[in-house]
Amino acid sequence: MSEAPLTFDLGTLSLPERGRLLSRIVAPRPIAFVSSQSAAGVGNLSPFSFFTAGGSNPPSVAFCTVNDRQGRRKDTVLNIEATGEFVVSTVSAPMLARMNQSSFEYPPDVDEFDAAGFTRAASVLVAPPGVAESPVRMECRLQQIVTHGTGPQASNYIVGEVLLIHADPAVCTDGLPDNAKLQQLARLGGDLYLTVERDDLWSLARPKTP
Ligand SMILES: Cc1cc2nc3c(=O)[nH]c(=O)nc-3n(C[C@H](O)[C@H](O)[C@H](O)COP(=O)(O)O)c2cc1C
Repeated sequence: MSEAPLTFDLGTLSLPERGRLLSRIVAPRPIAFVSSQSAAGVGNLSPFSFFTAGGSNPPSVAFCTVNDRQGRRKDTVLNIEATGEFVVSTVSAPMLARMNQSSFEYPPDVDEFDAAGFTRAASVLVAPPGVAESPVRMECRLQQIVTHGTGPQASNYIVGEVLLIHADPAVCTDGLPDNAKLQQLARLGGDLYLTVERDDLWSLARPKTP
């Protein structure tokens, strides 16, 4: 590095500046297409790229809904808090435009399945349906909501246990979902996206000696 590094003191940055910085650095991020229902049974479907998987004992996933500029919590976290259930469907390239449309801030009484034109796939163990167009769906039960901060742009991490996974055989090889076939979409900084294409993939074994 020839020039001195840029140093960002997060405490001096505005909320949008902090968000722009973090979303460029923690990238690429897979997209969880999360379906949930209110206590009254109104459906919701929204994409979240602050998403990861954890350990397998129990099988664990987490994603983060960020409060809006007025400090309001999103319908997804309110629904999951009320019912304890959600489904994470994966997002592949042909779903891009409709997935993006579903992220519009519709009022709570609008089900984004209908607004964005997705098909409901009935779940087995939880009430919310998954997305039929998604090659893989994970039925999840809430384990914990971790709130970090208060007000605008504060975080609500939703940790869930994966109960049941449904996968389209067309995207599987030897009985497992195959990253060469899934065409998964990922989010980076700003409005940038990445599609995982077969030709981009390469493999590397873990070291066997010190
Ligand atoms: C690709 C993509 C990824 C997104 N990731 C997040 C995220 O990780 N956290 C978040 O709060 N909002 C995220 N959003 C915005 C939400 O999808 C949007 O606020 C949505 O309307 C929330 O809906 P709800 O209020 O019905 O839960 C993302 C939007 C897109 C298009």
